Amino acid sequence: MCGIVGYVGPRKVVPIVLEGLKRLEYRGYDSAGIVYLKDGKLVKYRCEGKLANLEEMMEEVDDGGSRIGLGHTRWATHGPPSEANAHPHSDCSGDLVVVHNGIIENFHTLRESLTAKGHIFTSQTDTEVLAHLIEEHLRDDLAQAVAEAVKEVEGSFALGVMWSRQPDRLIAARSQSPLVLGVKEKGGCFMASDIPALLPYTRQVIFLEDREMAVLKNDSLQVFNLDDGQPVEKEIQTIDWNVGMAEKAGYRHFMLKEIFEQPQAILNTFRGRLDPETGIVRLPEIKLSSEELRGVSRISLVACGTSWHAALVAKYWLEKWVGIPVEVDIASEFRYRRLLLGPDVIVIPISQSGETADTLAGLRLAKDLGAKVISICNVVGSTITRESHGTIYTHAGPEIGVASTKAFTSQLTALFLLTLFLGQVRETIPAEKSRELGKALVELPALIEEELPRLQEEMIPICNEFGRSRDFLYLGRGANFPIALEGALKLKEISYIHAEGYAAGELKHGPIALIDRDMPVLALVPGDGVYKKVISNVQEVKARHGRIILVGSRGDDALAEIADFAIYLPIIHEELNPILYTIPLQLLSYQIANMRGCDVDQPRNLAKSVTVE
Ligand code: M6R
Repeated sequence: MCGIVGYVGPRKVVPIVLEGLKRLEYRGYDSAGIVYLKDGKLVKYRCEGKLANLEEMMEEVDDGGSRIGLGHTRWATHGPPSEANAHPHSDCSGDLVVVHNGIIENFHTLRESLTAKGHIFTSQTDTEVLAHLIEEHLRDDLAQAVAEAVKEVEGSFALGVMWSRQPDRLIAARSQSPLVLGVKEKGGCFMASDIPALLPYTRQVIFLEDREMAVLKNDSLQVFNLDDGQPVEKEIQTIDWNVGMAEKAGYRHFMLKEIFEQPQAILNTFRGRLDPETGIVRLPEIKLSSEELRGVSRISLVACGTSWHAALVAKYWLEKWVGIPVEVDIASEFRYRRLLLGPDVIVIPISQSGETADTLAGLRLAKDLGAKVISICNVVGSTITRESHGTIYTHAGPEIGVASTKAFTSQLTALFLLTLFLGQVRETIPAEKSRELGKALVELPALIEEELPRLQEEMIPICNEFGRSRDFLYLGRGANFPIALEGALKLKEISYIHAEGYAAGELKHGPIALIDRDMPVLALVPGDGVYKKVISNVQEVKARHGRIILVGSRGDDALAEIADFAIYLPIIHEELNPILYTIPLQLLSYQIANMRGCDVDQPRNLAKSVTVE
């Protein structure tokens, strides 16, 4: 996730910005940049790669002891990591610069209209439109121009803006992307996208809320409402977190933070692609014409680990709603079997990191055989995205915990969008159904957000009861069968408990022999078409003295009677249950691993990105 740092005050700005950016490195980034004012002009340095490159560059530079500036670490979303795409971005004159976190959804339209007015663009980013849009509104006051410009913007932003003609101030603004301001009694104001950047300098902070803007000067800080321009009284808060706590936004582990970030990650993945009114999906990044899409005879999904589980869910969705045959392969198997692929097949490699060696090898084979390759990936510019014909990016932000959580639910979101899109292009989903499914997805983030704290609490007694178990069985059916696999994988990778996921109907074909009091069985039982079947499977476990945890629909009182523990979830559109039902399983694994004293974020023997075969 990108990082912003800004400072105006009595101290030298360059070391403050570089130190602040260093403290945001944990968020993940792929390029960095800085801007400061010297002799009435803005001076900007940017480079691809690690912050160390920028620091090295700055060692040779005479910054004139500048006291005002901005810095940024970019995690690419529009345009690959490069110097040209790194922030800060300038307007045509070079007198105005912007650093930005978030996504400008209508940047295509804005860019076209600004280009028509004569603005010259030098990057592929969405951010650059902000610099030109503010320039377009600029008369003699920067704050006013920013306020006017952002009214035309759709999407999310945290902004830092600077103009050489008002050299005493920085402008900060936010909408759906965090921004925190820091103050010092003896003068000096800071802005940052996250608290760790401020901690070496001040613990006195002001949190900007959505649709607020601030004017930061050496000796004053004023906050305004972006929409009506009215001043807003803000409370200064004192932060007592240490640096480690601050990086994790107060959460004990990155994994927990990332579990709680899922509503935002899901929202970011569908926002700008799904029309909330009609359910119509636009995915121009696929780069295939409607005619080509209609001519596709088969889809082949290729992935590893958690990403493979996302692929398994997508098979249910695509076959049901698009009526197209789908095959799903573990990438390490795909690459060593005879592949029957050709130009009428779409191969979809799914990878959070975009660097997984087996998935990449599968992609290359598919391309050699003439298939169309559309990847689903979270990391812009990664190898898999570079080698694909098109990429649907998940916008989960960097995932730091090794156990994949928000990347998984974002992959599911992207695959659900793809299902809608193909169903619409191939006319297999009627308009009314599109509306219904689209609406269900739009409602999901808020619903998950509401459930998360309660679910976390509910895991404590379950963890106390079963956290010392040696084995665990997870059962599911239909599109929730892969979620049982994912629940088991999550538990084994972070708590080192042996866990298996099974299609519930397979129980009596072998695993039922394992059932006794020491084998907890968790079953997913939403009120769907296979509900009664799974309940019968669960009864078979109960008859053999198995201990049972059921995850099902709120209001289904039978679950509490059958199970040792029943976890209730709200009733949503059945198709989206795989996303919702993942959440308690992630929380249960987290709770158990934490209780067992395991290294939750960096489990033994595992790597975040598996770049070897
Ligand atoms: O980066 P990828 O999505 O390609 O990674 C695939 C697997 O290595 C990954 O999902 C792994 O299983 C995770 N540790 C799961 O939490």
